[in-house]
Amino acid sequence: MAQKKGILIAIDGPAGVGKSTIGKAIARELGYSFINTGEMYRALAWKLLAADINPEDEAAVSGLARSLKWSFEKGRGAGLRTLVDGGYPGVALRSEAVSKTSSAIAKNAAVRELMKEMQRKLGEDGGIVMEGRDIGTVVFPDAELKIYLDANPEVRARRRAAQLEREGYPADYAAILRGIISRDKNDAGRRHAPLKKAPDSVVIDTSGIGITEVLRRVIELVRKRCPPI
Ligand code: DC
Repeated sequence: MAQKKGILIAIDGPAGVGKSTIGKAIARELGYSFINTGEMYRALAWKLLAADINPEDEAAVSGLARSLKWSFEKGRGAGLRTLVDGGYPGVALRSEAVSKTSSAIAKNAAVRELMKEMQRKLGEDGGIVMEGRDIGTVVFPDAELKIYLDANPEVRARRRAAQLEREGYPADYAAILRGIISRDKNDAGRRHAPLKKAPDSVVIDTSGIGITEVLRRVIELVRKRCPPI
């Protein structure tokens, strides 16, 4: 059997909690690759919008998902980017339309099955930090380390507003908070693979602590569970 490149670290949690920022930092620290699985749902949503397919038409959505050519390539830093039909949608993935559509299609069981197959392939050799909503519960229930990041909706909305302002975009705190609460409801309330804490996950509430402290705690956990790194 091939030598594993490292462990699989699953990071789950609600929208805007900082999973990508933390996940990338951990991957960098450990020399691992980082995969943001939300980007896969977003890439499908982007294709769906371009093809003018109704997100509620489950058969059409899963048909499109299966017809696309999915590939993954190293982007900047530790991250792997999701390519569909050979192209990387880039900033288009962050648009409000794509956010809303990706949340709608995430309840489609056939789409989730396809995403799970691809995610398992990507993670099977280890040396991966994978973030999403169902990584520790459904995709890799046997992951060596599962982290569940949490923070209250107000803190998440404030951080998102501050980030937008730093990037020079207008930020409407009340609208951002409403969006976060609505996505929490969608993510936790859906029938297939809802967002929930795996019983064996380590929960870190980031409401009152910064990224450096979160990173320190996670690295300590990795060292304890899988020495040496
Ligand atoms: O993490 P994100 O906001 O980029 O994710 C986009 C959407 O995809 C979000 O509505 C939740 C969904 N998603 C999911 O259902 N399962 C995952 N593993 C990752 C994302």
